[in-house]
Amino acid sequence: MDLLVQHSGWVTLQRIVDDRDGVLCIMNSAKEIPFEIRRVYFINNLDSCSSIRGRHAHRKLQQVIFCINGSFTLSLDDGVNRQDVELKRENEGVILGPMLWHTMHDFSGGCVLLVAASDFYDESDYIRSYDEFLTLVRKGEK
Ligand code: TYD
Repeated sequence: MDLLVQHSGWVTLQRIVDDRDGVLCIMNSAKEIPFEIRRVYFINNLDSCSSIRGRHAHRKLQQVIFCINGSFTLSLDDGVNRQDVELKRENEGVILGPMLWHTMHDFSGGCVLLVAASDFYDESDYIRSYDEFLTLVRKGEK
């Protein structure tokens, strides 16, 4: 599926299938991942029915999000266009650039998310109010 929202895009990792010995996927900083990686985090133990994560945008942070087990729905919103994407292939990630409101939901059982980020955690980089997000997008368009 093409990504129509701004500040996003697909990332495809090399995937090596070792038959019975599993599957190996590789992400290289500043190669497949379009920035220098400073932080990696993962999320597991989700409740398939009720968990919702994200619901924010970042001012400057760049991230790429992967679903390395199971599946989930990623809802993207650049302030003008909205798009839902199903992540279910472990080697296909989605770029979460700055000023992209994102929400993760509808997790399958055993779902594991992996995120590569361009910087350390900084709460002041978060926009957690959707109204503030829209105001900032509109200011940026002027
Ligand atoms: P948050 O980024 O809001 O999670 P998600 O986008 O997956 O829903 O982070 C949840 C909490 O964890 C919040 O209190 C901040 C904290 N946190 C850190 O301390 N360091 C980190 O690197 C991250 C990603 C979150």
